[in-house]
Amino acid sequence: MCGIVGYVGKSQAAPILLDGLSKLEYRGYDSAGMAVYDGTKIEYEKAKGRLRLLSEKTHDGETMQGTIGIGHTRWATHGEPSETNAHPHLNEEETIAVVHNGIIENYAKLKEKLIKRGYNFKSETDTEVVAHLLDYYYKQGNDPLTCVTKVMHRVEGAYALGIIFADYPDQIYSVRKDSPLIVGLGKDGNLIASDVPAVLKYTRNVYFIENEEIARLTEDTIEFFDVDGQPIEKEAKTIDWDVDAAEKGGYDHFMIKEIHEEPKTVRDTLNPRIKNDTVDIEELGMSDDEIKSISRIRIVACGSAYHTGVTAKYVFEEMARIPVEVDIASEFRYRNPILQENELVIAISQSGETADTKEAVRMARAMGNMTLAIVNVVGSSIAREAEKVMYTWAGPEISVATTKAYSAQLIALYLLAMKFADVRGLLSADEMKSLITDLKKLPEQIEMLLGNKERIQKFANRFVAAKDVFFIGRGIDYAIAMEGSLKLKEISYIHSEAYAAGELKHGTISLIEEGTLVGAVATQENVYAKTVSNIVECKTRGAFILAVTTVGHEDIEEVADYVMYIPQTNRYFTNSLAIIPLQLFGYYVSVGKGFDVDHPRNLAKSVTVE
Ligand code: F6R
Repeated sequence: MCGIVGYVGKSQAAPILLDGLSKLEYRGYDSAGMAVYDGTKIEYEKAKGRLRLLSEKTHDGETMQGTIGIGHTRWATHGEPSETNAHPHLNEEETIAVVHNGIIENYAKLKEKLIKRGYNFKSETDTEVVAHLLDYYYKQGNDPLTCVTKVMHRVEGAYALGIIFADYPDQIYSVRKDSPLIVGLGKDGNLIASDVPAVLKYTRNVYFIENEEIARLTEDTIEFFDVDGQPIEKEAKTIDWDVDAAEKGGYDHFMIKEIHEEPKTVRDTLNPRIKNDTVDIEELGMSDDEIKSISRIRIVACGSAYHTGVTAKYVFEEMARIPVEVDIASEFRYRNPILQENELVIAISQSGETADTKEAVRMARAMGNMTLAIVNVVGSSIAREAEKVMYTWAGPEISVATTKAYSAQLIALYLLAMKFADVRGLLSADEMKSLITDLKKLPEQIEMLLGNKERIQKFANRFVAAKDVFFIGRGIDYAIAMEGSLKLKEISYIHSEAYAAGELKHGTISLIEEGTLVGAVATQENVYAKTVSNIVECKTRGAFILAVTTVGHEDIEEVADYVMYIPQTNRYFTNSLAIIPLQLFGYYVSVGKGFDVDHPRNLAKSVTVE
């Protein structure tokens, strides 16, 4: 995900571009850039890091003079975050500038052809091919509109583009396919943007651009064309949301927006790695012999990422028969740990900047072990520290409490376990097929669960005054309980603990009294009856039981006071579904208490200190 903006009008463009980009930083923040036509040439500036660095570099845009320009805030996909890879990208003569949100899937092929025609590439991005391709068609004598349509016929994938040509210094061209784009009709000029909040300061009249539609903007005109360059009519809509709500896509908080993005996150992390009914993790770059030789897996992570590691232990050990140790990174690094020969160290991190996890990777490398990072932020410190990286494609996560990145981590870990099990000869083709079928159903099943959110909100409202909550479960259900408990406590400030259900009677059960809420997760068939017994133990002591189980276990209603059902899936994957109602529960309790859900007290999104 990236954000693009563009402005053409009577005012100076750069400050307007910076302001627009600041409303789109939620779409990406690893680098930013702008191109402005200054009256004689296209001038551009880029900065690695947050947008504020670009603002500083350009003195809030003052150093870039001109009334037409395009801007970009980046979330790296192809090519690590750097100034070179930051947008805009230009042709060699710097007479065409392009900003892009999306992924050009056939960029490698196009790049090869352009190189053969003598084009030189500066960056590792997919976007740069668009700048050179436009140049190629322009030099054949085509006008800018024709160049844009020709490019649309050549590129595959998703894109929203903002383009300026130095020879047409009063025009912005913009086009989209499968990436969002709007055009704002302003008083003193017109704008393009990836999302409405970027233009709301200047106008409430916007056009929503549909797939394969082109817009041509000047200071006082906006024209639309189809993919063949034929003019089309569009109607402007008036936006009546406030700026804050618009940034969150109409949701009240980033957390709930991100929970709703989980089906997409799961799809994006999963689909590119399923090929011909099997798991293909290209970036793993491990030979079958290397995979077979793994003697043990060591997972290091913190917080929610650690909880996905606990889930992975159960999955890897049963599916791939590889022993797994899961370590809290801050414990690992000060324990003088013993790593075996051929022990694979997997670090899991959304931000890729967590100090303890980074240090654990560094230590593991120093001990000579192979390291693999499962990371969300491309080019982050952990991604660079580890030998191998598998990215989770969750996009930027803004809410401090993780939701969608957690879901993406689970998918990455399932895929890895399936790959290892397959190479080790532990999965038949039919078993693999059936696992893939179940994985592919997850996004739709998550959507179904999200459809029940009002019911969970009602239930959550009853527990806003709870003092202590306990979550219990066995096996993978224990890992789910850990994350459900963390989600609740970190944003609602209600004391909550997770226990392996069988462990409760060894002390903690003395804390259960009349009305204490116990969340019992019971999705694992092999331990279902055991967990039900533990539920009964709590109930007898007066607990109010919230059960999370799979459809088909309606008998649980005999012992539970409230049940959240999840659809049936393979036993390995139940976390991906069971966590959804628990995330929603935590969210709604926090909302019910009137807390700042996205910014819980004392917490930071990226913990770069130990
Ligand atoms: C909880 C949460 C944290 C993070 C932890 C690790 O909702 O978000 O527990 O999971 O701080 O962060 P990353 O994954 O960035 O290493």
